[in-house]
Amino acid sequence: MSNEAYKLFNAITLIVMTAICLALESCASIAAGSQSDRLRSEPIKPLPLKLNLDESKVELGRELFHETRLSKDNTVSCVSCHDLDNGGGDQRVHSIGIYNRLGKFNAPTVFNSGFNFKQFWDGRANSLEEQVAVPIHNPDEMGSNWNEVVAKLSASTDYQRKFRSIYADGIQAENIADAISEFERSLVTPNSRFDQYLRGDESVLTEDELRGYRKFKEFGCVSCHQGINVGGNMYETLGAMFNYFEARGNITKSDYGRYNVTGREQDRYVFKVPGLRNVALTAPYFHDGSAEKLEDAVAIMAEFQLGIWLEPKDVSDIVLFLNTLTGEYEEGGK
Ligand code: HEC
Ligand code: HEC
Repeated sequence: MSNEAYKLFNAITLIVMTAICLALESCASIAAGSQSDRLRSEPIKPLPLKLNLDESKVELGRELFHETRLSKDNTVSCVSCHDLDNGGGDQRVHSIGIYNRLGKFNAPTVFNSGFNFKQFWDGRANSLEEQVAVPIHNPDEMGSNWNEVVAKLSASTDYQRKFRSIYADGIQAENIADAISEFERSLVTPNSRFDQYLRGDESVLTEDELRGYRKFKEFGCVSCHQGINVGGNMYETLGAMFNYFEARGNITKSDYGRYNVTGREQDRYVFKVPGLRNVALTAPYFHDGSAEKLEDAVAIMAEFQLGIWLEPKDVSDIVLFLNTLTGEYEEGGK
């Protein structure tokens, strides 16, 4: 083949390959750089596919997470409000604890909570370990205390043996919190369709879902909901543009957000930006559980956080995108 013919052949091959590649909407193998480029440049990062956890702690933590003896009257466990088969929340406006007591907040999901920079709507717990004591002591949730819990668990030779095999000092508050936290770190939902897209699979999202994602970025949702958990890495005022609480009415102490933690006036109505992974499964929404549907939550966010009124088509596109954030969790798996 002459030099000219060779160049022409190469050019045609390239055009044909590009055409096939575009037709398949999957350039992953040809555009070798596209996967890592997307992982680098997109404001949302995929959840890890593999975890490095202490399996014996995870197993003990799993049992404790389902343990009703953590509550005063042995009726309520962590799963009572964090149902692992239903998005890791409880589908209620506000949670219900022992003696049917109504709590003051909507229960956030426990899935992927290990990736949040702080725990709780107002961020008052610095770590999962610190978080565990709160529901155990909260009179509206489990209404118990460490002394009672340690005494009840110590009555079980099975628990004694299991704790001893991991912790030299056996059944202690700190060890209970440690095991539960390690289990919570296993509550990860990788491989959502959106994560597959981030990892380079071009064909996995529909045109409409991609448009929803573009709008999520262009309208500015991503300035607060970003990173590995699509949130969970900063505090922001609820009502950044307009007064959400005045519009909703009936303001209570739980609406003060970070103010309850710091006592600083500038922290009034400031909350942790929640992660949006699996958000399609965790209705109702917001710390007050006031938004019944994801569509309502999206429209409220646009208005009060960004000062824009979305067309119904914009809302439904964004909801389509949010649906692609639903990942996989197998009880018993990791
Ligand atoms: C009675 C219902 C109830 C029970 C029982 C309960 N929780 Fe929760 N959980 C909630 C509510 C409501 C919140 C939000 C409270 C807040 O932000 O002040 C929450 C928040 C959390 C968070 C923070 C998530 C985030 O994104 O900020 C974690 C983690 C968590 N719970 C784990 C647990 C564990 C572990 C147990 C068992 C020891 C437990 N919960 C028991 C209702 C409950
Ligand atoms: C200025 C920061 C900011 C912006 C911008 C923002 N959000 Fe939020 N978002 C928050 C905060 C803070 C909350 C928690 C509100 C609360 O305390 O109830 C939240 C909550 C949510 C929730 C409810 C999650 C749950 O589990 O209850 C959804 C859904 C949501 N945002 C979607 C969006 C969408 C879609 C956009 C763009 C139209 C957007 N957000 C823009 C800060 C922001």
